[in-house]
Formats: sequence, C-alpha cells, structure tokens
Amino acid sequence: MVVLRGARAVCTAPAVAACRPSAEAAILIANADGAARLGWPGRRRADAFLHPPATCHGIGRKALRMGNDYTVHETAFLEQPCEIGPGTRIWHFAHVMAGARIGARCNLGQNVYVDRDVVIGDGCKVQNNVSLYKGVVLEDEVFCGPSMVFTNVINPRAFIERKHEFRPTLVCRGATLGANSTIVCGVTIGAYALIGAGAVITADVPAYALMVGVPARRRGWVCRCGTSLPATGDPRVCPACNAAYRVTGDSVTPA
Ligand SMILES: CC(C)(COP(=O)(O)OP(=O)(O)OC[C@H]1O[C@@H](n2cnc3c(N)ncnc32)[C@H](O)[C@@H]1OP(=O)(O)O)[C@@H](O)C(=O)NCCC(=O)NCCS
Repeated sequence: MVVLRGARAVCTAPAVAACRPSAEAAILIANADGAARLGWPGRRRADAFLHPPATCHGIGRKALRMGNDYTVHETAFLEQPCEIGPGTRIWHFAHVMAGARIGARCNLGQNVYVDRDVVIGDGCKVQNNVSLYKGVVLEDEVFCGPSMVFTNVINPRAFIERKHEFRPTLVCRGATLGANSTIVCGVTIGAYALIGAGAVITADVPAYALMVGVPARRRGWVCRCGTSLPATGDPRVCPACNAAYRVTGDSVTPA
C-alpha cells in the first residue's frame, strides 16, 4: 500500500504480485457480456511504478508522478496491485482500489473512485466525482459525465450485508452516460447509446439509443458521433457525419 502524506509518497509494503481478479470478480466479469472482448495486452502493474524507492521518495514538489507511461497526480491513491494502461491520466484525489484494471489512454477526473475488480477499457473518460463500484465494466471509449452514479446493490439496507448480491453493470463500447445520470445496477447499456443528463436507467438500453428522463425512456436514436438521427428514413443518415443506419424494430445497425 502507498500512503501519500502532503507532497510525498511513502511505501508501507513491499512490491506485490501481479493483479489477479478474485473468483467473485471473475464471475461478474464473465457474466458481463463483452468484458471478455477487452484484451489486456501491454498493461503494466501500477506497483512497478510506485514501489521503487526512487519513485516513492522522489516526488518532492512535482504535481504529477510520471512513470510506466501513465500519469498520476500526487494526491491520488493507487492501492496495490492494480493495472493502469499506457497514456492514462489520473487526477486529483482519485482513489483506485486493488484489483482494478484501467486501460490505456483513459482520463480519470478529480475525486473519481474505482472499486475493487472494476474493469475500464481503453480510451475511457471518467469525469469528476464518479464512483465505479464493484461489478461495473466499461468497454472501450465509454464517457462517464460528471457526477453520474453507478450502483451495485438493488435493495440496500445499512443493517443487512449484501456484498454477495452485487449486480453487474456493463457499459458497451462508445456509450455516453450524461452528467448526473444514475444507472440502477444489473443492466447493460448498448454500444454508442447516449444517456441524457439526469436520466435514471432502470433497464437494458439498446445500442445507439438516446435515453432521457426518470425513469429513462428512449427518445430517439443517435449516431456513433453522438448526433441525433432523423426520425424517419431508410437508411437514416446522420446530418453531421453522413453515417447511415438501419432501424429494425427496437434495434439499430450501421447500414
Ligand atoms: C439528451 C441530449 C443529448 C439531447 O440533446 P439534443 O438532441 O440537442 O436535444 P434538445 O436540446 O433539442 O431537446 C430535445 C427535447 O429533449 C428534452 N431533453 C433534452 N435533454 C434532456 C434531458 N437530459 N432530460 C430530459 N429531457 C431532455 C428537451 O427538453 C426537449 O424536449 P421538447 O422536445 O419537449 O422540448 C442532451 O440534452 C443531454 O442531456 N446531453 C448530455 C450532456 C452531458 O451530460 N454532458 C456531460 C459532459 S459536460
């Protein structure tokens, strides 16, 4: 474990073994269709960066720690072992728990919390004040807007332990979760879906769906680029980028 005091990082334990998700996490991840598609080539252990004495005691006045091709603000906590991909940036007061796996080129904003065994794909953006609880899987290029909320227990009680009843949440590639939206656990958000600000998601969301309201309802379809598609037409052509889509019942596919 690494404890940060003021501007310095102090190692309190020796280097630890490589990240191996627990059996429970493996089940969650296996259940979450799509997580298996997230390969983890080239990931580096965060402890390889944090534990060498030169790094742990050499921070001094630097605001950022650079190492293993990723960047961590000195106020962030990385519990060991966790994995962080190259090019990822982790900002002020973020907290990453042991067993978390964060892909390449991600951006974790201020006060982001990444729970044990959470999986984040490549190129994801997690804005300020987002907590990703155990059971959450983000595929590549997912956008989590500021202060949006994940959950992992459907009927929590302070006086009943429900750690073995976590429900997984899978957010598929390229999806956007708007500011202050809430994702009630146990759902899959389809690829490139766009969840409006403040929406509350209580059921699975199809790919390319535009969802707003409480509880969220589908208001239309969006292009991969995030622009609303016309309400009619076959194919439906994005007015911004000209990408074409076919709508069949409650599903959309690129034409
Ligand atoms: C959902 C969203 C994408 C719709 O954008 P849009 O296609 O430009 O939609 P419009 O502003 O034209 O609004 C269309 C209708 O949806 C409603 N609407 C828009 N956003 C809404 C929201 N988040 N919740 C509920 N209703 C919403 C509008 O009031 C309007 O209703 P009306 O037709 O009855 O007047 C956008 O409003 C949104 O919420 N974006 C997320 C922004 C965000 O969280 N960013 C985070 C990074 S800073």
